[in-house]
Amino acid sequence: MAMAEARVQFNVVFKEANRTRRRYRAMKGSAGSGKSVNVAQDYIVKLSDPKYKGANLLVVRKIDASNKNSTFAELTAAIVRIFGSDYDRYWRIKLNPLELECKITGSQIIFRGMKDMNEREKVKSINFPRGKLTWIWVEEATELQEADVDILDDRLRGILPNPNLYYQMTFTFNPVSATHWIKRKYFDYKSDDIFAHHSTYLTNRFIDPAYHKRMMMRKEQDPEGYEIYGLGNWGETGGVILKNYVVEEFDTSFSRFDSMHHAQDFGYNHANCILTVGFKDGELFVCNEIYVHEMDTAQIIEMANRQGLNKRLFMYCDAAEPDRIQMWQTAGYRAFKVIKEPNSVHAQIDYLKQIKIHIHPSCVNTTKEIQQWSWRKDPKTGLYLDEPVEVFDDAMAALRYSVEPMRKKPVRMSGNVVGTPAAQRIPKW
Ligand SMILES: Nc1ncnc2c1ncn2[C@@H]1O[C@H](COP(=O)(O)OP(=O)(O)OP(=O)(O)O)[C@@H](O)[C@H]1O
Ligand SMILES: [Mg+2]
Repeated sequence: MAMAEARVQFNVVFKEANRTRRRYRAMKGSAGSGKSVNVAQDYIVKLSDPKYKGANLLVVRKIDASNKNSTFAELTAAIVRIFGSDYDRYWRIKLNPLELECKITGSQIIFRGMKDMNEREKVKSINFPRGKLTWIWVEEATELQEADVDILDDRLRGILPNPNLYYQMTFTFNPVSATHWIKRKYFDYKSDDIFAHHSTYLTNRFIDPAYHKRMMMRKEQDPEGYEIYGLGNWGETGGVILKNYVVEEFDTSFSRFDSMHHAQDFGYNHANCILTVGFKDGELFVCNEIYVHEMDTAQIIEMANRQGLNKRLFMYCDAAEPDRIQMWQTAGYRAFKVIKEPNSVHAQIDYLKQIKIHIHPSCVNTTKEIQQWSWRKDPKTGLYLDEPVEVFDDAMAALRYSVEPMRKKPVRMSGNVVGTPAAQRIPKW
């Protein structure tokens, strides 16, 4: 729709990608290259356009619950950007289950996961009240198995109701491994059905200078990671520190855990990250994250208050910033510093490696960081050193702080961790 298109801005690097009608649109790119925003805007523009009447979009992530804070959030943000404050005249936004419906064309967007047999089966029976399933967007596509994609591909068939329509699958992802099936299937194999695309944060004109700076730091400190997440080239994330985690839905309510607390790593140009973690039978559950850039402490406190962050829980904080800890205390939070000792980073990592970590799908930044957090590689010998790369590790710092009360001699009662010396030592509460 010309009117809709005029209201949003696109990066030129995606121009051809947004025009192609090839069946497979494979879009690899660095972190922050603008893939997700572009695809979200592209679909909202197209699905609002009567020219494509009868089109419907299925959005897929490996874990269905991850859709809410990523694809659904991007698509609703695109609707608001395109249609302004009276967007609800044009689009209906439904939360339970997530669904978007264009009031102009009747086109719908639905969201699914591909985590297990049950979810794969459900995908096979999707139907829409108007038109057909024409388009599928697989976000963070490297999380899927090749077989998942074949199931999805099978769904795009039959006579189309409108000559302007075409079947298309879109994949957006960071090129995490040169041996990944997605490279073989869409990049090494040449076909008229495939449109293979590449973008980097350098071709995203909406990226701010602070992001460029962080990327330059990464280039120096983590050349392997920079290759993938900075340049969008096929790489290998060797030396990943934590592999003992799952991203999955779970009950995050306070009462089900043996103990629960917050952990905070301060930042301004770097992210400021607050995690709320629960422990149950010695396993760690990351329940909630606040992850923001360029916000001062007062603004973050306001945000935490608005979100109803539990003030009764202890908050383990980065020791380097006593003034900020003081501000949190004044605001009524039970914040105090994590005492640093020689080698505490290693001790925290050792502890983290030995427990099972569950990450709630709403914690998208924790998920992104944990996938990339790795040991530094010695450029001369090619061997991994015993020190973590110190970029894009703000949620990981909070995660490290979060195990402090457990690591420091947990008190056990009938097998469960119920309190800790560290927590009990806190004065004045
Ligand atoms: N067309 C656009 N209009 C306005 N802002 C944009 C646009 N494209 C990208 N941006 C900005 O750039 C940021 C990064 O874009 P986006 O999240 O789409 O990157 P990405 O390629 O999906 O990154 P990742 O690989 O980390 O998921 C966005 O958060 C947004 O601030
Ligand atoms: Mg993205």
